[in-house]
Amino acid sequence: MAGTFVEVHNLRKVFNGTVAVDGVDFTIERGEIFGLLGPNGAGKTTTIRMMSTTLPISAGDVLVGGHWD
Ligand SMILES: Nc1ncnc2c1ncn2[C@@H]1O[C@H](COP(=O)(O)OP(=O)(O)OP(=O)(O)O)[C@@H](O)[C@H]1O
Ligand SMILES: [Mg+2]
Repeated sequence: MAGTFVEVHNLRKVFNGTVAVDGVDFTIERGEIFGLLGPNGAGKTTTIRMMSTTLPISAGDVLVGGHWD
């Protein structure tokens, strides 16, 4: 089945004044293998936690499988 499965728009997280994720945008197609690479502290885990709704987002939008959060 073709089509976009994940959309992340201008995703942002601030922890007590520390900017952890600063306006991230990407899309993942259905069936695509997508890697999130970056140095320690780049914000990878924070991004995944926001995408999985285990961490509230500060700003931006996440769409997973047709569900916006
Ligand atoms: N719960 C938290 N409270 C405060 N700051 C946090 C919290 N979680 C992460 N941070 C900060 O947010 C930034 C991004 O951290 P994150 O853990 O998302 O990076 P990462 O890319 O997953 O790093 P690593 O490669 O070490 O796993 C870092 O500056 C980190 O110190
Ligand atoms: Mg991590």
